[in-house]
Amino acid sequence: MAEVIEQRDELAALWEWFAGTLLPDYSPLYTRIAGSVAQDRAVLDLVREAPPEAHMPLVLLAAVHYLVLGGVDHPLAAVYAGRSRRDPAPLFHDLCMRYRREVLELMSRRRVQTNEVGRSALLGPALTHITRAHGTPLHLVDVGASAGLNLCCDRYLLDYGEWGRSGPPGAPVHISCEVRGGNPPVAARLGPISARVGIDLDPVDVDDPADVQWLLACVWPDTGRLERTRRAIDVARRQRPRVEGGDAVEVLPAVLGDLPAEGVTCVVTTWVMAYLSPDKRAGFVELLAEWGNRRPVVWICGESVGVVEALRGVEPGESGDPAAGEVLTAVSFHAGSVEPKLLARVHPHGRWLDWEG
Ligand SMILES: C[S@@+](CC[C@H](N)C(=O)[O-])C[C@H]1O[C@@H](n2cnc3c(N)ncnc32)[C@H](O)[C@@H]1O
Repeated sequence: MAEVIEQRDELAALWEWFAGTLLPDYSPLYTRIAGSVAQDRAVLDLVREAPPEAHMPLVLLAAVHYLVLGGVDHPLAAVYAGRSRRDPAPLFHDLCMRYRREVLELMSRRRVQTNEVGRSALLGPALTHITRAHGTPLHLVDVGASAGLNLCCDRYLLDYGEWGRSGPPGAPVHISCEVRGGNPPVAARLGPISARVGIDLDPVDVDDPADVQWLLACVWPDTGRLERTRRAIDVARRQRPRVEGGDAVEVLPAVLGDLPAEGVTCVVTTWVMAYLSPDKRAGFVELLAEWGNRRPVVWICGESVGVVEALRGVEPGESGDPAAGEVLTAVSFHAGSVEPKLLARVHPHGRWLDWEG
């Protein structure tokens, strides 16, 4: 019994932390739900029954959203669709209890598979920065690519307001990103990308309706990103970005070895490093340094401050301080030299950036 209470307390603390990391004005819905789950013994007990890897709040939130997107007959659906202003917290509890078996079944086999195309708006200036500093063409390797939507970043219209736009003007996916400071390099078109490949432990198949429903379920319902994600999935169905299945560190050498010899290898990780163990993160950086001895490699990393040990020298704020936020960094590996650089403070879904680079 003591163990049960301890586990429940740990989960409650996790949900409370999660509620605190959400911006109330960005997702009032999930802020409210996460805060109430932290106090909800029955829902915490449901989570406790799921495998430990599914204890991250986003897995339960996505499981419930999956059922809603699947057409479940429940009043939470109208709240998620913005058609009802009822308090979502008791409705979320009710749905979890009524559909406990279905929720647990999803939590037993699905993991966080977010593929946030808003992050392409962060990659845009980073890639332009790299082409200006290192030349072209770029070979883009997205590690933890999910469905590979950000491998198509040059096919979206990236809109920085008065700072300009990047990408084809009539693109079906339009991503607005507020520039809060600095002078980000915005090119009318991103530099030529001559090879693009993703790696993911569990790639999302854009032709599989259940995979697509899960991908959409990972989008927070009240943040206006669902339609944009659907359009990006359509782009991926046409462009077919290649995503290799497997572990980042294990698959990366073969992927890098297959790239053309000429050009700049650009390895991207966006909100993936937190899923790797510290040893694996260190192995990943060692691997990039080793490849940097053979050809120019630049690593673009979007992540919360404090997650990546190798970036501690260039990140702002105290590591481990949740208020320190999220950053975009570039590390250049070339002929034995390693040069990390802070590019921007960013919103984790690409809503804004404050360019430092
Ligand atoms: C939060 S999602 C981010 C996806 C994508 N980078 C984005 O920004 O939209 C994390 C992704 O990393 C993948 N992942 C987790 N651990 C991994 C590993 N060891 N090797 C490769 N991919 C991994 C997951 O399957 C998931 O698709």
